[in-house]
Amino acid sequence: MSDVGGVVLAIDGPSASGKSSTARAVAEALGYFHLDSGALYRGVTLAALRELARRGEKGGDPLSLDPEVMLRSAEDLGLALHPDGVGFAAYLGGEPADIEIRGEQVTSYVSPVSALPVVREWVNARLREMVRAGMNVVVDGRDIGTVVFPDAELKIFLTATPEARARRRLAQRGDDVDEAAVAHEAAVLADRDIRDSSRPVAPLCQATDAKLLDTTGMGFADQVRWIVEQARSIRPKP
Ligand code: DC
Repeated sequence: MSDVGGVVLAIDGPSASGKSSTARAVAEALGYFHLDSGALYRGVTLAALRELARRGEKGGDPLSLDPEVMLRSAEDLGLALHPDGVGFAAYLGGEPADIEIRGEQVTSYVSPVSALPVVREWVNARLREMVRAGMNVVVDGRDIGTVVFPDAELKIFLTATPEARARRRLAQRGDDVDEAAVAHEAAVLADRDIRDSSRPVAPLCQATDAKLLDTTGMGFADQVRWIVEQARSIRPKP
């Protein structure tokens, strides 16, 4: 058992590496819960947008708010993840918020919001609280194995080339997967990788004790099977 209660399996990696869908399938196979840490960064971003709208600044930039104000709005609006089958459903203002937190507006602001140190501390505290309840979880994010749960029983760093990730992202969106679109999307992803890996707070990097899984040219079922096999050999720490 990790020092936070249950067994923790951390899956980190760059954007569009398939962390969330893989983490969910692994959790299902193992009978664990799947905790998507990005949902909390997205929830804080949505709370900040709601606070701006309340002030009559609909469509304003969340970064114009003091980070403490963002977090107060998240708390006042009761931002929470509630167990829902194998995963968790996000709630804000007493309403389901999963669709809105993954919408275009939140997606365009979440990266700079997630770079704010106080926001990261708040999210990390929520994640640790949830896992302290003793549940076995697969947690996916960028800094789960390095910062949030450094004692996780198993750490996976999931990656693929920018081109492979671009193809998957375009197909997921239902866009044409032609060479020009792949090249454009791959450049966007490579640029985001550089930003995420070079930010001063909790940069994206592989934990020294994480197992690297490069899924370029690998099918979804095979990557899930590979992680589940690794997880089956977990020996809980004494
Ligand atoms: O995985 P996602 O796209 O839902 O993540 C949303 C944003 O939050 C993205 O910009 C990366 C950031 N994030 C992070 O910095 N650390 C995490 N553990 C999870 C997400």
